[in-house]
Amino acid sequence: MKIGIYPGSFDPMTKGHLDIIERAACLVDRLIVAVLINPNKKNGLLSIPDRVAILEEATAHLANVEVDCFQGLLMEYAKLKEAQVLIRGLRSTSDFEMEYNMAQINKKLSPSLETIFLMTAPEYAYISSSSVRELVYFKGDYEWMIPKAAFNKVKNIQVEG
Ligand code: PNS
Repeated sequence: MKIGIYPGSFDPMTKGHLDIIERAACLVDRLIVAVLINPNKKNGLLSIPDRVAILEEATAHLANVEVDCFQGLLMEYAKLKEAQVLIRGLRSTSDFEMEYNMAQINKKLSPSLETIFLMTAPEYAYISSSSVRELVYFKGDYEWMIPKAAFNKVKNIQVEG
């Protein structure tokens, strides 16, 4: 059985993430979408349980997709889950530099694990969680960037300013 992990912060999940999940789910038998619990990032938009709940709702139509969260090194988590592949989305050359470095480090830490990059669909190429957070903060329209499940949670967030 081929097990894949699609890790990320998902704060919040975007339509670009959903597109990658739907495509990655066709490549593996079981896809684990894993939310990083990052103790260094205390001021995220959404709590970890909210991020997980959004991902679960937005991927409910995909039978081989499950949602989890993890702390610490991704490679350790991947070993624990007996995953063979990591999935990452690539939007642009600026993504590439960071992703390349991360894939090289991960390969060094766990040589048998492959990172597979999926090119983001052009219609989502300029959507990012950070731009959604900025629009939330400045009260701009971001509904078109995120799945309905995410919008239903994010719209209730009160931001100062
Ligand atoms: O959605 P993001 O923020 O781009 O996802 C980044 C993520 C979670 C994939 C990455 O930060 C990660 O794997 N963090 C866990 C620590 C780790 O294993 N880092 C890789 C070695 S430097």
